[in-house]
Amino acid sequence: MCGIVAYVGPKDAAPILLEGLARLEHRGYDSAGLVVSNKGLKMRKVKGRVGDLAAVVPARFKGTLGIGHTRWATHGAPSDANAHPHLSTDERVAVVHNGVIENADELRAKLEADGAVFVSETDTEVLAHLIARTVEESDSLEEAVRTALKRIVGTYGIAVIDARRPGEVVVARNGSPIVLGIGEKEMFAASDVAALVRYTRQVVHLEDGELAVLRADGFTTFGGDARETAKEPLTVDWEAGHYDTGGYEHYLLKEISEQPETVARTLRGRLDDRFHIAHLGGLNMDARESRSFRRVKIIGCGSAYYSGQIGAQLIEELARIPADAEPASEFRYRSPVVEPDTLYVAISQSGETYDTLAAVQELKRKGGRVLGIVNTVGSAIARECDGGVYLHAGPEVSVASTKAFTSTAVAFALLALHLGRVRDLSPADGRRICEGLRRLPRQIEEILALEPQIKELADKYADAASMMFVGRVRGYPVAREGAQKLKEISYVHAEAYPASELKHGPLALIGPETPTVAIVPDDELLDKNLTTLGEIRARGGRVLMVGHRTADPKLADDCVVVPRNEIELDPILLTIPLQLLAYHAAVALGRDVDKPRNLAKSVTVE
Ligand code: F6R
Repeated sequence: MCGIVAYVGPKDAAPILLEGLARLEHRGYDSAGLVVSNKGLKMRKVKGRVGDLAAVVPARFKGTLGIGHTRWATHGAPSDANAHPHLSTDERVAVVHNGVIENADELRAKLEADGAVFVSETDTEVLAHLIARTVEESDSLEEAVRTALKRIVGTYGIAVIDARRPGEVVVARNGSPIVLGIGEKEMFAASDVAALVRYTRQVVHLEDGELAVLRADGFTTFGGDARETAKEPLTVDWEAGHYDTGGYEHYLLKEISEQPETVARTLRGRLDDRFHIAHLGGLNMDARESRSFRRVKIIGCGSAYYSGQIGAQLIEELARIPADAEPASEFRYRSPVVEPDTLYVAISQSGETYDTLAAVQELKRKGGRVLGIVNTVGSAIARECDGGVYLHAGPEVSVASTKAFTSTAVAFALLALHLGRVRDLSPADGRRICEGLRRLPRQIEEILALEPQIKELADKYADAASMMFVGRVRGYPVAREGAQKLKEISYVHAEAYPASELKHGPLALIGPETPTVAIVPDDELLDKNLTTLGEIRARGGRVLMVGHRTADPKLADDCVVVPRNEIELDPILLTIPLQLLAYHAAVALGRDVDKPRNLAKSVTVE
């Protein structure tokens, strides 16, 4: 959360920083600010959006080096004063920071006793004062930053400038991403490649504990021991165009609509029609190893966790290996037993979610074998894992995850097919799944064509104070994801339950004022699901059924009918109408669809 951009080179920094911040706004959007160096530091910062910041930056705001920030508040409410950058009292040092400084209160008290005057409630401001205190005695800004960071407990991605060293920016990472962008006689840094791709595709990811000095003519990186580290630049294949709305009203609708293509990209080159198996070169496992696991444990947060539940189901059904999913944020705190014959799979669109990263690190510490299912190439989680599957879904800009969710489920289908075919899955079933996977992009197009009908339904149900989402077994993670999408972007309260659990408690909530979205595929549980609909209707509940057929009007008020695939793959398709339902409900309610309140893309704090 929060976005950082830094620039040093021959051009004016302010327009580059503003452009980069606009690209990062999905990471935090309660306030924004920037500082440029030109015979002293010149700063502007405001509560509000990057557009509000641009409005207060004068046309002539000269300076060829600068840092900028877009904020998602952790310490102190959104306000002009709490916006970053933060300056030292003498206005010599400026800092932008992502992450949380846990010992900020203690450091603040000491610094105040020593004469520092604080002007914000943020934890970050302690860094500006600490660096200002060491910079005088240090030979370099880099040394001053390193000395100050030794006193910090917590996580950070930072960018620092010193008015007396107008040719360099120092950045450092510990738990919060920093990526360097290499240009022609200019250098960039940001918390996300999104801010860089307009200027360069050559990037270098910092590891935790690393620090870098950027000058117009290049960069130097240092490890925690202050020794120089050698870094190989990576070429990113994401382009600036990926970050445009492409004529859609919102990124979310664009990303929902891209799914035929993004699913095709996740599949591309990975299906083997001769042996009906999936080839996943990045797993770094031979067939013998693939056969050796007795359990699969999947971890991820939020929607990534729900896609992991779909994945666990696919692995159990196709590979017959016991599998389950757990929120990474819980897993890491409960001292899990790490077993050598368990395959661990971490899911993350951003590859930077702190809880997931920390869980992977804990697994690695205990000798666990971890695969990553990740969208962002070269991200921290991808680097930390032993192998994995990239989604190739392209950048996801809207805060709510859609195309990464479906691509993750598809990647799990590939993994399950692979693990199944080196074990017990028959060639006939392998072929069935391969063919089903190939049908997905076209079937997603068919579902997208239902948008006018789904919009009407969204308009009809958007005024509900609360909605229930239910599904059984394969349908349950779909229901969870449907409820998640609705609540995060429309702010309509939504609960998801296994349909089988309804009568054990939540049925008490059902009535005309609480409609139910029921996931009812044509699988072996169809009759049981229809019985549940009867129970809901008997209590006066309205039902919107999403499945493969229209229901008796006695059982459902409305139906969305999606094409059938293989029953194991149906959850992927059943999710898509729910994305459209949430989107149109949010639009009907006038919500800020791409930047829902209180949320940010990439949760890089605990
Ligand atoms: C929901 C959503 C979040 C993310 C979660 C994990 O729409 O976007 O629940 O799925 O924060 O993010 P990643 O996948 O980046 O680790």
